[in-house]
Amino acid sequence: MVKPRNTSVTSGKKVSTLPIPDLAYEEIRHALLEWFQHHQRDLPWRQTKDPYAIWLSEIMLQQTRVTTVIPYYKRFLERFPTVESLAEAALDDVLALWSGLGYYRRARHLHAAAQDIVERFEGQLPADHKALLSIKGIGRYTAGAIASIAFDLPFPAVDGNVFRIFARLCCLKYPINSTALHKIVEAMANVLAKGERPGELTQGLMELGALICTPKSPTCLLCPIREHCSSLETGQVDLYPVPKRKTKVQDITVQWALLRRSGRVLFIQRPEDGLFAGLWELPGLYLSHPGPDEPTLLLEQLEEWGLQLQLSETVTPYQHTLSHRQLHIQLYHGTQLRGRLNLPRHSFRWISLKTLDELPISSITRRVLKAL
Ligand code: ADE
Repeated sequence: MVKPRNTSVTSGKKVSTLPIPDLAYEEIRHALLEWFQHHQRDLPWRQTKDPYAIWLSEIMLQQTRVTTVIPYYKRFLERFPTVESLAEAALDDVLALWSGLGYYRRARHLHAAAQDIVERFEGQLPADHKALLSIKGIGRYTAGAIASIAFDLPFPAVDGNVFRIFARLCCLKYPINSTALHKIVEAMANVLAKGERPGELTQGLMELGALICTPKSPTCLLCPIREHCSSLETGQVDLYPVPKRKTKVQDITVQWALLRRSGRVLFIQRPEDGLFAGLWELPGLYLSHPGPDEPTLLLEQLEEWGLQLQLSETVTPYQHTLSHRQLHIQLYHGTQLRGRLNLPRHSFRWISLKTLDELPISSITRRVLKAL
């Protein structure tokens, strides 16, 4: 049913020839649109054509479940209803509203991009795919999503759902995280997008991936494009997409010191980039090669910040899993012996745990402090 055709695809400097399968694009587009009309979920970002709201939803939905996103999306739009209001906000306020949603880099990029849009586009997201791509922090996926959903321009938004759907449709044997698969699927999704109602088509593909062509146990019997699916026809749905080559999970030991003074706890702000960038947390250390159990390095780090402490470890170590990292958290109660903090004034705060919600902190910090 699916005949490979050789098509030149540019990949970086090299031009490689990858077989792009033929598909009945017109029929698939029509079946998807029809199905989406009747089966789409009622989601808040589907009740608007505001490009800013659609952009926000797409950023929040990256790596995060729909049910988790909904309350964050509503709160965020209430507090920052326009690109201008977001651009004018303090980054700390934006991060505080994002607190618990994870992947905080998204919030920083969103904030920076809002400022870029105010400067260059008078606060309006441009109805132009190339111009969208020129905005800091808007990549191919997001530009495609905004262009198609908000402006009905014929561009695809290719994400994990779309890779999975096409890998199954055409029995693509390349691993799900390979450049080859990405190039082939992007080429096919581009063709599919060049037709009627691009916005609904983009969302139809997302919805198919979320409701029918799911990662595990897809419900192929209910699939509107099952008659075009090579892996279903050959009884190989379980084999696609081909799993990714594994990246190793890195173990990191985190040592935090809990230091109290007059009912307040010492927090410091993390650097502007890297893990948990810009968030506030207990003073401490991240060690990829921890030595013996005593917190010698932690004591040294605290001393560098001006504090001489006595530390006693709390009983329970905490575990926290991130996409490529496993954090092993050791919490120490600190008693100050001598010294005075010599950090820049803006990078530390003594905070009452009751007012923690006003501060952008990671969910693991929240969890550890809640348990106290
Ligand atoms: N996942 C990514 N974008 C989405 C959208 N617009 N609706 C539902 N799920 C999504």
